[in-house]
Amino acid sequence: DDYELGGHTDFMRKEMAEQPEAIARALRGRLDERFATAHLGGLGLDPMALRAVKRVKFLGCGSAYYAGQMGAALVEELARIPADAEPASEFRYRNPVVDPDALYVAVSQSGETIDTLAAVQELRRKGGRVIGAVNVVGSAIARECGSGVFLHAGPEVSVASTKALTNMTVSFAMLALLLGRVRDLSAAAGARIVTGLRALPGQVERVLADDAEIARIAKRYAHARHMFFLGRVSGWPVAREGAQKLKEISYIHAEAYQAAELKHGPLALVDADMPSVVIVPADDLVAKNIGTIEQVKARGGPVIAITNADLPDGLADEVIRVPRGEPELDPILLTIPLQLLAYHTASVLGRDIDKPRNLAKSVTVE
Ligand code: AGP
Repeated sequence: DDYELGGHTDFMRKEMAEQPEAIARALRGRLDERFATAHLGGLGLDPMALRAVKRVKFLGCGSAYYAGQMGAALVEELARIPADAEPASEFRYRNPVVDPDALYVAVSQSGETIDTLAAVQELRRKGGRVIGAVNVVGSAIARECGSGVFLHAGPEVSVASTKALTNMTVSFAMLALLLGRVRDLSAAAGARIVTGLRALPGQVERVLADDAEIARIAKRYAHARHMFFLGRVSGWPVAREGAQKLKEISYIHAEAYQAAELKHGPLALVDADMPSVVIVPADDLVAKNIGTIEQVKARGGPVIAITNADLPDGLADEVIRVPRGEPELDPILLTIPLQLLAYHTASVLGRDIDKPRNLAKSVTVE
């Protein structure tokens, strides 16, 4: 273990630190500057088949489902095909309508998650076209799908997934780019995404370098019993993933809400003992998110903003900044500080970070 940890205190820390190289590996040989697109040979779909896709649905469990939600947003933005994500754990029980013109994407780090595997089997039984987005080569889901995109994140040991999740979203950006470039996405817009993807490893490196500051913030709020994670549109799956990570390893109750839903009920919970982590991407909703922060502050709630936008000084109690890249890729960068926040909170509380209670790395039984 000591050798495998390579000087890190635990696997989660090691795996977070490996993200820049993991992303670079996922991108290697797959980006095409000349035609401003991506090559994902493992999909087994020629341009005609790609053009025939009328809808995309991502299926995964837990964080893989949240990554799928980020993927759906990328597909809708870049390819303008209706896309959504659904928990694989529900799929087979609700007798889903299987659309022969849809592309289903089964998302799994381990490739062994029983609910995701069962969703794939149900889809295949009903004639659905399903590809995998899987990290472990030769795993059950990879074999059952037969085609797809491997994540190339390298072995992930910590129960809390970090680098595999990042590579899921990076892979979905490439899938969305590819689907977009056989439709209406211009060469210039495609080139912008290619450049944005190439910049990611360096940008993630910069977020990771903020470790000491995030550790300070984590220490300050580690006493909280409950926390909100708030986001809008592209920030919403980021908020969900941030809440998930905090719950998983720190055992602090965290709830993610779409920021605009706050005033429909949950705002009643906000007080000085209920911090909110607010995700503020530099998109056209910055003013709305500033409004959310003001609402929370007006009720005495502490606010930690995770942002690449310019926020007024003194608005939030804490501001964690990430570099500004291509807006479609913002969720990838905005998720990284949330890993560190959960990590340092769990660490202050003395939790067993790699092996949180009651959880297994992959859920192979129902
Ligand atoms: C992530 O931190 C969690 N441990 C969990 O939600 C995980 O993403 C989920 O169980 C799916 O696992 P998989 O990617 O191996 O299918």
